[in-house]
Amino acid sequence: MLKITTSKKSLAELPAKYCRFVLTEEAPSVHRFVETVSGVTEYRMGAGKWATVDARVFRTLVRSIVQAAKSHQIEALAIDISQLNFPKLEQYSEAWLYSTLAENLLLADYEFITFKTKKESKKKLSEIVFVGSLSKEAESGLKRGQVVGQYTNEARNIANTPGGHMTPTALGNAAKDLMKGLKVTTTVLGEKELKKLKMGALLAVGQGTKSETKFIIAEYWGAGKPVGKTVKGKEPIVLIGKGVTYDTGGLNVKPSGSMHDMHLDMSGGSSVLAAIAIAAKLGLKKNIVVLVPSAENAISDDAMRAGDIVTSMSGKTVEVLHTDAEGRMILADALTYSERYSPKVILDVATLTGAALSALGQFASAIMTKDEALSQTLTKLGEVSGDLVWPLPLWDEYKASLKSHRADVSNIATNFSRFGGCIEGGTFLSFFVPKNVSWAHIDMAPRMDSIPSDKLAKGSTGEPIRLLVAFLEQA
Ligand code: BES
Ligand code: MG
Ligand code: ZN
Repeated sequence: MLKITTSKKSLAELPAKYCRFVLTEEAPSVHRFVETVSGVTEYRMGAGKWATVDARVFRTLVRSIVQAAKSHQIEALAIDISQLNFPKLEQYSEAWLYSTLAENLLLADYEFITFKTKKESKKKLSEIVFVGSLSKEAESGLKRGQVVGQYTNEARNIANTPGGHMTPTALGNAAKDLMKGLKVTTTVLGEKELKKLKMGALLAVGQGTKSETKFIIAEYWGAGKPVGKTVKGKEPIVLIGKGVTYDTGGLNVKPSGSMHDMHLDMSGGSSVLAAIAIAAKLGLKKNIVVLVPSAENAISDDAMRAGDIVTSMSGKTVEVLHTDAEGRMILADALTYSERYSPKVILDVATLTGAALSALGQFASAIMTKDEALSQTLTKLGEVSGDLVWPLPLWDEYKASLKSHRADVSNIATNFSRFGGCIEGGTFLSFFVPKNVSWAHIDMAPRMDSIPSDKLAKGSTGEPIRLLVAFLEQA
């Protein structure tokens, strides 16, 4: 793995094995690799006019450093940060700057190689050293960024693992592995316990396969564990993540071109698990509970049928008008389960709808909440962290379309309208949110898979982990 180090030496004093990284104001397309007679190499990269570099451009720039190093087979790179001067970044702290650097270097370095049997012969980038004397703030930012980068890459490994391997049982085990060495308690409930809890909506989604449905609970009491039954004063932030380990669509089967990447349908789950791990690793003085309902949405004679009616944990009956609208069903039971924690605030993260991509394209996740302040906080933190989010409305007008003729609520619009599909998902969830709790729904379907401009490996982006961590830090 890529090592990030610091050195008090200047660039000139460093051994020749380090390629010197030099940023210029040339166009971002200008890259030059210079070898001097003394054997020292320099990599010159254009950033465009420095005055135009904002947080978004900066993150991409940092990622292209790694891409460039990889394509030139540079093994060790030295960077002098004091040479950089970006006026648009002055509004941010030094900790932010260094954290952003470390995070994005690690995210760009990541490749999913679990299933590659042959080692690549290419030389690997193994070290990036920051030279010069770093302030305490810079050092702590660098540390934070490394923690965030490492755990986010772990989450990407979990998400990228095929559905045949990453079953709900495997996801439970992966959650426990991720929390190793951390003050996080992880519990995995199986079908027997879920039946006792009456999680009928979650169980229905998983009933078409012999892969056992699971419910993963991770608790971190950084602000002190509540004693006895009352959580008064210790109310946790609850993060809920969709953990559908493979989504065929069920009997309303997905078309061929839409199914192959549905092992990523548990990315919400892996994201919230990484977020609590990072919070624990950073020692945040916050109470956090993570809930990941996990099932495989499979096809068999046991699978739930379109038209079936199931009773959710809340007692509300759900008419399954579409078996591919399964994410909202498993989240419904998790929302009900969260009640026992008296949550301070609930965020749910889910690859919930293709309609989120229709609404926003692939650059941002959609957020829905009735809490205006929470909406603004998340939107701003999205910009600061790099995990962009954008609000859609959750007006009461949308509720009517989900009023079932045969049950309490239907899982899609009773007139089968495709309009406003992303909001429809959020609206369904709103029926199951504990009363008087601030809640936001994050539909991360647009950010499930990376796109070329991300400058990340194909597959999981690891979003919105950075946003969740930033949220937990300030909550
Ligand atoms: N997992 C999908 C949503 C999805 C689609 C995520 C594309 C990422 C990329 C979800 O379970 C689903 O199938 N949703 C349906 C909902 C519809 C039936 C109301 C969809 O988006 O078509
Ligand atoms: Mg589906
Ligand atoms: Zn799904």
